[in-house]
Amino acid sequence: MDQAATLKQWQQIRKANTQGAIALEKKIERYRYPRVISFTSGKGGVGKTNVVANLALAFSRCGKRVLLLDADLGLANIDVLLGLCPKYNIKHVFSGERRLDEILIRGPGGILILPAGSGVPDLVTLSDADKLFLLTEMEDLGDDIDLLLIDTPAGISDNVVYFNLAAQARVVILTPEPTSITDAYALIKVLFSRHQVKSFYVLINWVKDDQEAQKVFKQLAAVVDRFLGTLSLNFLGFIPQDEAIPRAVRRQRAVLDLYPHAKSSRVFMGLAQSLLKEGYDDYVDGNIKFFWKHLFRA
Ligand SMILES: Nc1ncnc2c1ncn2[C@@H]1O[C@H](COP(=O)(O)OP(=O)(O)O)[C@@H](O)[C@H]1O
Ligand SMILES: [Mg+2]
Repeated sequence: MDQAATLKQWQQIRKANTQGAIALEKKIERYRYPRVISFTSGKGGVGKTNVVANLALAFSRCGKRVLLLDADLGLANIDVLLGLCPKYNIKHVFSGERRLDEILIRGPGGILILPAGSGVPDLVTLSDADKLFLLTEMEDLGDDIDLLLIDTPAGISDNVVYFNLAAQARVVILTPEPTSITDAYALIKVLFSRHQVKSFYVLINWVKDDQEAQKVFKQLAAVVDRFLGTLSLNFLGFIPQDEAIPRAVRRQRAVLDLYPHAKSSRVFMGLAQSLLKEGYDDYVDGNIKFFWKHLFRA
């Protein structure tokens, strides 16, 4: 082989290897960085906090390291639901009294909880220095978790919008109540028409059976189709009405923890497994730093 041909061949090999290495690196990054999923609802009281807490535990039973960001300012915060008593919340991080890793608490199955609760400031009012500080702190956490789940507030406030924009997947939770359906639509409409969010998972809670869940989903899908057209609603599943849930709530335990064989517990395990199987296509640059950057830029 003459020298020019050898050189060309060698260049080709090098190019292929470089491309391969880049692709591999990207792939590794995709899997290394935590996936961010927000759980949201138009209306309060639809069981969002309960769903997130149980799904977090279900993910951890699937071997995932989960961080749960409690950003729901409602009365029943995740820590109350799980019988935990956090001493500090995110407010103490901003005031410099505590570091982020010092305010995290462990819940059932070793899930990590970031108790933000009433300490969640209006994100718009955070100074650039605060944002940068939080970014750096969150970045350090990124290596230790596979999934970041966010329990967003209900409604369409700025914070709700920000959290949903920054997540890579959004799960909208609703019940068969007409107000819950109209409020879910209002939330989807804001995220789609003002912020171009085009894909949502829909989870129906508190139904008798699959038939009722499908009916609710179709009602929502019909209005979305009619007024918003191009966006995609994916039916994620449903959680049955289950007396074991309020019983577990009263004992401040996750139903999956206290009654692992209850029908809702089995559903939570199944939902976690199907969410884990979902493609990583929406995973653009899904690291946690990216999440916070998005959140602050929103
Ligand atoms: N599938 C269900 N079956 C029976 N009760 C439920 C179900 N889902 C939620 N609940 C009840 O609804 C209450 C409110 O749920 P919660 O998660 O606090 O709602 P949200 O966070 O949406 O305000 C819970 O305390 C629980 O007892
Ligand atoms: Mg709640």
